[in-house]
Amino acid sequence: MESNNPSREFTVIGHRGARGHAPENTLLGFDAALCLGAHWVEFDVQLHDGELLLMHDLRLERTTNGKGRLDEHTFAQLRTLDAGKGQQIPTLQEALSLIDQRIGVNIELKTWNGTGAAVANVLREVVAQGWPLDKIQVSSFHLPELYEFHDLAPEIPIGVLLCGVPLDWAGCAVELGAGSLNISDEFIDERLIADAHARDLKVFVYTVNHPDEITRMKAIGVDGIFTDYPDRALA
Ligand code: G3P
Ligand code: MG
Repeated sequence: MESNNPSREFTVIGHRGARGHAPENTLLGFDAALCLGAHWVEFDVQLHDGELLLMHDLRLERTTNGKGRLDEHTFAQLRTLDAGKGQQIPTLQEALSLIDQRIGVNIELKTWNGTGAAVANVLREVVAQGWPLDKIQVSSFHLPELYEFHDLAPEIPIGVLLCGVPLDWAGCAVELGAGSLNISDEFIDERLIADAHARDLKVFVYTVNHPDEITRMKAIGVDGIFTDYPDRALA
């Protein structure tokens, strides 16, 4: 069965940078992911005040020294905050400049207020400047936003994010022309992997941190994992 083929490549994706080692969604985190040898890095993007910013939550308290919702602040105010170890909340452009094609980037669209269109504008330019298409993927739980992105930048690979298994679980991925299913570890099993592979979809699983679970993911044939500890998966 293809899903159990041990020779299949196993992609280690640093989750929100390398969240186990450095503040999430910061340039320091991307440096850490690069140093640890991650193959890809994942980060979350939100559109606020006309700017694309890297942030997971809709509120500031958990990851910064700010208070309230991001959309209650201007870009200038957000940039004065400490996102951990003195880091600013980065822009998409800053993240891409730092990573500079050295490893793949998985850009997760977190807001659905035109984020897909704004990211498409940036990425079309970045790809025109030479960023290889096999080192970039855009994903989202918000499939209509992903659809909008795909409409504007159909050449850029996309991944459908799932935190459950809908009845027609693969239908949306096929309809969107996605290259992968990015699915929570709670819902992964070998039947789903085999079915995805039969449809030419890769399967990436989030967020896998325990060494035993990393070993299990490799054994059941997933194509890669999002992990806060890329070093554990590469050991
Ligand atoms: O993209 C994989 C994973 O990051 C999705 O969940 O909540 O960590 O953004 P979350
Ligand atoms: Mg994410």
